[in-house]
Amino acid sequence: MKFIKKDFLWGGATSASQVEGAYDVDGKSLTIAEMRPFNPNLDRKSVHELNNYTRKDYEKSIENKERLHYPKRIGIDFYHRYKEDIALFKEAGMNIYRMSIAWSRIFPNGDEKEPNKQGLKFYKEVFEECKKNGMEVMLTIQHYDVPYPIAKKYGGWSNKQVINLFVKFATVIMKEYKDLVKYWLPFNEINVAPLAPTTGLGIFRENFSSEKEYMNAAYQGLHNQFYAQAKVIEIAKTISSNIKMGCMVANMTTYSSDCNPVNIWENLSSQQMQRYFYYDVMLKGEYPTYSKRYFEEKGIKFEATPEELKVIKENNVEYITFSYYMTSTVSKELKDAAGGNLMLGGKNPFLKATEWGWQIDPIGLRITLNQLWDRYQVPLFISENGIGVVEQLDKNKTVEDDYRIEYLAKHFEQINEAIKDGVDVFGYTMWTPIDVVSLSTNEMSKRYGLIFVDYDDYHKGTGDRFKKKSFTWFQEFMKTKEL
Ligand code: BG6
Repeated sequence: MKFIKKDFLWGGATSASQVEGAYDVDGKSLTIAEMRPFNPNLDRKSVHELNNYTRKDYEKSIENKERLHYPKRIGIDFYHRYKEDIALFKEAGMNIYRMSIAWSRIFPNGDEKEPNKQGLKFYKEVFEECKKNGMEVMLTIQHYDVPYPIAKKYGGWSNKQVINLFVKFATVIMKEYKDLVKYWLPFNEINVAPLAPTTGLGIFRENFSSEKEYMNAAYQGLHNQFYAQAKVIEIAKTISSNIKMGCMVANMTTYSSDCNPVNIWENLSSQQMQRYFYYDVMLKGEYPTYSKRYFEEKGIKFEATPEELKVIKENNVEYITFSYYMTSTVSKELKDAAGGNLMLGGKNPFLKATEWGWQIDPIGLRITLNQLWDRYQVPLFISENGIGVVEQLDKNKTVEDDYRIEYLAKHFEQINEAIKDGVDVFGYTMWTPIDVVSLSTNEMSKRYGLIFVDYDDYHKGTGDRFKKKSFTWFQEFMKTKEL
């Protein structure tokens, strides 16, 4: 099969807290991501434990520095090895790199008057390196790494003061990097806010006396992010027409578990609140009626001023990006839960799953692309997709990862089909070009990369990089565009 689109962007995606390391270097503060120690007993099938983490746990983790291991403080040491990594991405044939910028390097406490020059310098050098190697940059401004001082002092995103801190940070970096970075995504997986408020918003359950208050704070935090994003888009227009602003949603496509209309409706209403709601707000600029009904019925309350709603209405994103890993099923009563890092859905007997229970569904990607195109008619970009597997280097210092080749090839085929269906999809960044620390389980051993990194879960190893079989396969695909 020949991939038909010529000017398609092909690359890889990572996030700062999962790759950079150097957590206390050049003025950086700690982020919430770097405060969570590795827990080897984590149930791989559980959604994740992040939400049960309290501020006390985070603070205790500082005291226990000696004993516990904090994988995201080390990452894969991209901070010091980025030149080597970017050279490998180029060698693989990639023409775009999606990465994120750590707020904690630019405004370590959030409320400094001036940005940290060393932080600005680091990212300038990384972006220049990408340019030099022929790669566009897609930059996520916040990817699950609220600086801990902001979480502690302000209580995270439910506090409206954080909007101003973020807008100031975003304005500084847009001015600084407008000629080096073309694609901008203010928030990674914005829909994770109410599912995992600590991860997405930097708010802690223990600060709220009831689940209801916590949920109100989560939706307040989400609204504040919608508004902050719109404000950033408004400001971007005054900085440079080179800046292309998109959104990023964890696109959790689900199917009804059967053809019982009760379950079909259950699935539709779940899809409304799990994903369409987010795209609707960011592309149509309004809270849809079904969401208002949902909030009313659930008793969810948050403050949205007329001025904020006006800014949201007038500043929509230009394109959609989304992560796509799996699909699951929905029924009125969830009987058999599948895996996932963010949301619990049901099992699908027609799909195989990864070791973590993520159900592999390439056709679901074509379905998703068609659904989003039909509904929004804006360019689409797959900003994350990939497979996590436990792997070891063999005696030839490589990994024969045929399953990854198959996973990627099958998804590429379905993108091609969607393009033939008429969908405007302009790029793909795999999660990940290189092994990174897992977001949900904090493991190094959950590997997604084309490139193996020699660290185990406790960061024992050389940290050296080795090409897997999929690296060579992808390189070949980039030359021939044949599958
Ligand atoms: C996405 C996140 O939800 O899933 C990434 O944006 C994350 O940060 C990826 O790494 C895979 O999840 P995990 O938990 O396997 O690392």
